[in-house]
Amino acid sequence: MGRGLFLGRGLFLCLLVFCTSVLMELSTAQMPGFVSLDCGGSQSFTDEIGLEWTPDDHFTFGERTNVSLTNETRTQYTTLRYFPADDRKYCYTLNVTTRTRYLIRATFLYGDFDSNNVYPNFEISLGPTFWSTIVISDASTIEVRELIFLASDPTISVCLSNATTGNPFISTLELRQFNGSMYFTGFENQFYLSTSARINFGAESEEPVRYPDDPFDRIWESDSVKRANYLVDVASGTKKVSTQLPIDVNRDERPPQKVMQTAVVGTNGSLTYRLNLDGFPGNGWAYSYFAEIEDLAPEDTRKFRLVLPGAPDISKAVVNIMENAQGKYRLYEPGFENLTLPFVLSFRFGRTIDSSKGPLLNAMEINKYVKKIDGSPDGGVIASIISPYTSAAWAQEGGDPCLPVPWTWVHCSSDSPPLITAVKLSGQNLTGNIPSDITKLSGLVELRLDGNALTGSIPDLSSCVNLEIIHLENNQLTGELPSSLATLPKLKELYVQNNKLSGTVPSGLLNKKLNLNYTGNMNLHEGGKSGSQTKIIIGSSVGAAVLLVATIASCLFIQKGKRNSKHDDNVQILPTQRLVSSLSNAPTEAAHCFMLSEIEEATNRFERKIGSGGFGVVFYGRLIDGREIAVKVLTSDSYQGKREFSNEVTLLSRIHHRNLVQFLGYCQEDGKNMLVYEFMHNGTLKEHLYGPLPHEWNFNWIKRLEIAEDAARGIEYLHTGCVPAIIHRDLKSSNILVDNNLRAKVSDFGLSKSQVDGVSHVSSVVRGTVGYLDPEYYISQQLTDKSDVYSFGVILLELISGREAISNESFGVNCRNIVQWARLHIESGDIQGIIDPNLREDYDIQSMWKIAEKALMCVQPHGHMRPSISEVLKEIQDALLIEREALAAREGLSDLSRNSFHSSVNMDAFDIPGTENYVAIDESIAQPTAR
Ligand SMILES: *[C@@H]1O[C@H](CO)[C@@H](O)[C@H](O)[C@H]1NC(C)=O
Ligand SMILES: *[C@@H]1O[C@H](CO)[C@@H](O)[C@H](O)[C@H]1NC(C)=O
Ligand SMILES: *[C@@H]1O[C@H](CO)[C@@H](O)[C@H](O)[C@H]1NC(C)=O
Ligand SMILES: *[C@@H]1O[C@H](CO)[C@@H](O)[C@H](O)[C@H]1NC(C)=O
Ligand SMILES: *[C@@H]1O[C@H](CO)[C@@H](O)[C@H](O)[C@H]1NC(C)=O
Ligand SMILES: *[C@@H]1O[C@H](CO)[C@@H](O)[C@H](O)[C@H]1NC(C)=O
Repeated sequence: MGRGLFLGRGLFLCLLVFCTSVLMELSTAQMPGFVSLDCGGSQSFTDEIGLEWTPDDHFTFGERTNVSLTNETRTQYTTLRYFPADDRKYCYTLNVTTRTRYLIRATFLYGDFDSNNVYPNFEISLGPTFWSTIVISDASTIEVRELIFLASDPTISVCLSNATTGNPFISTLELRQFNGSMYFTGFENQFYLSTSARINFGAESEEPVRYPDDPFDRIWESDSVKRANYLVDVASGTKKVSTQLPIDVNRDERPPQKVMQTAVVGTNGSLTYRLNLDGFPGNGWAYSYFAEIEDLAPEDTRKFRLVLPGAPDISKAVVNIMENAQGKYRLYEPGFENLTLPFVLSFRFGRTIDSSKGPLLNAMEINKYVKKIDGSPDGGVIASIISPYTSAAWAQEGGDPCLPVPWTWVHCSSDSPPLITAVKLSGQNLTGNIPSDITKLSGLVELRLDGNALTGSIPDLSSCVNLEIIHLENNQLTGELPSSLATLPKLKELYVQNNKLSGTVPSGLLNKKLNLNYTGNMNLHEGGKSGSQTKIIIGSSVGAAVLLVATIASCLFIQKGKRNSKHDDNVQILPTQRLVSSLSNAPTEAAHCFMLSEIEEATNRFERKIGSGGFGVVFYGRLIDGREIAVKVLTSDSYQGKREFSNEVTLLSRIHHRNLVQFLGYCQEDGKNMLVYEFMHNGTLKEHLYGPLPHEWNFNWIKRLEIAEDAARGIEYLHTGCVPAIIHRDLKSSNILVDNNLRAKVSDFGLSKSQVDGVSHVSSVVRGTVGYLDPEYYISQQLTDKSDVYSFGVILLELISGREAISNESFGVNCRNIVQWARLHIESGDIQGIIDPNLREDYDIQSMWKIAEKALMCVQPHGHMRPSISEVLKEIQDALLIEREALAAREGLSDLSRNSFHSSVNMDAFDIPGTENYVAIDESIAQPTAR
């Protein structure tokens, strides 16, 4: 589709450029179509760059508060608005002009406004479309989210919802209108563009360029700001260049002149960068901005290609800025309207053989496509229903009635798009007629408008064929009770008492099995009779009986469900009652009690020692039935007495998961306490990484990821599948065991859980292993699941590096600790420096980065900054996916056409707007090398 489209676009743009440049000359004040909301603010002001801010003080919801704990002095960041962490959404609605493109920017500066010990985590959506999860990980960093969209309605809503921790909040909301065809894409009716990178290369300071330098107030980040894994791997010989001369930028996306006046040049022939693209892998819009700003001698040429690893087709296009832009100091903007990009993007611009000058790059912009989600088709109808009540809080909830979460007084079906199934507006002072539009809600099941001051007659609801429950009582409704109500096939409950209805009750209603109440209507009679005001409620007793039956049935069903779940290995949760009652007794029947003689026979009188740890010595054994076991003989001082041992066994016997070493039973005789586990054939992870075990199997990166996945699953179960949650406290590579199938299980869990909340002098002992021990737990002695996450992070680092957690030699001078060492390397972008040389080249750098970065998050000094084990598990699974893809590709199986996470280009989308110069295909060019 591309070429024709962009040709057309070129013409269109020419006309536009003419008009808009005239316009821009005339407008000296702030651009039209700018809205800058200072959330939580109390008065309007103009900031130092000339933007006019207005407070959101008309906003009905949430609380405003001041923020003081940051170094940010801009007025708009000294306040914010926060919302309850409930299950509803809180929406800002802004006016826009339809068929116009905008940038919407939401920013969040937390500033510890609530002095909470967890950072907020919540979601933001644009109308019904999920936009982003806002994860605060630092009190003084401003989180920014931007979306570029084509307005299709006269208003947009930005909603906050679904807080998993802390309170949702927002600092600013900024709307910026674009001109003409800026950011036009062929996908704009189905997709938004979410900004991942907008970089000003060769920037003169660390300050971003924005309004007024950019009349559209985009934020162009300086390439000299240092961020972890952002713009690293810069080629040697990369130099900044700049000019003061004006640049003709009035075409395409109109990057600001100030951005185009600076650039980087690869004096050695290459420009290389690597950066993390938030939100990717995915499909994106990626463009480069070039303008020749160096003085070239007449014989000089500057021609170069873009090289993306894994996307050989891309490198066929040659950029010659002067030629493409038709002159110096003019914008040339080639790019890809739809490109599949990875999370870690490495790119290179390389000089062609016949070029005398190295490549030059002024700016670059990458946006991710975000699929628009269709809102409820009932949105328009419900909007007209609530339009007379604009001042009521319930009518101001904003956004889509159903998505991402429904309004408080609405229920929705789970269809996509969803339909409204319930309207609950009891006691809301509604006046006037029942809105006839109600009858257009075809999915309606429940209608509650009772306790209002509604007048007029009851509309014909027969088009709402799913209606089951109608409550219109306690209003001032007049007219007859429509006989059409009797045609509603599912109607179960109709309450119209205490109105001013008249006439006769339709016999169709009286003959239905129905909870019907029409008392308190002076002039409403049952057919034939008259004057009676107390009516028998026909069918009500039948209805009640049905209800009763239903209740019994559902209880039985639940009971049955519970019983079933007990048989499920993954979710065996002992009912608390039983847990409590068993504490004072001997171990429950769930744990098998072995005889000492049995154990002695199995272990051949404790002949073969296979391990030892803080809790005692472990022996190999084989039961009479052939099962191999590991018997842990606990050191005698591990327990205060019989009772504590019972507690432990009770706890252990309810933990079942395929990634946890299976507990088979216990033995308590002769003053000895023993725990019996399944035997794991392949030793510990530690032994595989650097132990005495020979490398009899290829312990490659995929294998390591699988082991990490297994272990994370086991830990996730301890943290989230057990009630109460179990914290392992001593995760380390020697506690991860490998079975016959080379899958991993976590061992040593659940031990001395009782000591955590037991006798005080015991609980003050910090348990754990040096090198894996969460420093926060060590200092505070407050144990949380995040202490396990810390230890797990250390294990991930071991898997990457093949080095022990603590070592006197491995990590250079002044460093004994893997965390310190790895952090130094990873944060400076040098991942190669920590990768285990035994992994050779058999890994994909993307998956390696994923794990390295997650590992660093896990070993953050403070627990609240660490991810949950579930998040870590998710990341490992993503990395595995990438790795399996890459493996398939390496083995030449890429035609399996699985979902690809690698760069790949749709050549149809290879468009170079603004020029008709098509690419000369030079077959002599070496294919790009992967990695
Ligand atoms: C504020 O700035 C000072 C001095 O630059 C710095 O030491 C401090 O850490 C900063 N505080 C925050 C919250 O960023
Ligand atoms: C949005 O538009 C509506 C209707 O045109 C108008 O009543 C309202 O004042 C506008 N809101 C703002 C904030 O401009
Ligand atoms: C809320 O967030 C949780 C965790 O991030 C997610 O699993 C869930 O789907 C979200 N719910 C909605 C309604 O978006
Ligand atoms: C981009 O290309 C991919 C694959 O070629 C296609 O599935 C997708 O619909 C295109 N558009 C967007 C916006 O992702
Ligand atoms: C209904 O109106 C009365 C009187 O104006 C007021 O006191 C009450 O708060 C209103 N109720 C609701 C739910 O708006
Ligand atoms: C019907 O409504 C009246 C008035 O609200 C109430 O007193 C009566 O108990 C109701 N009857 C039934 C069966 O619900």
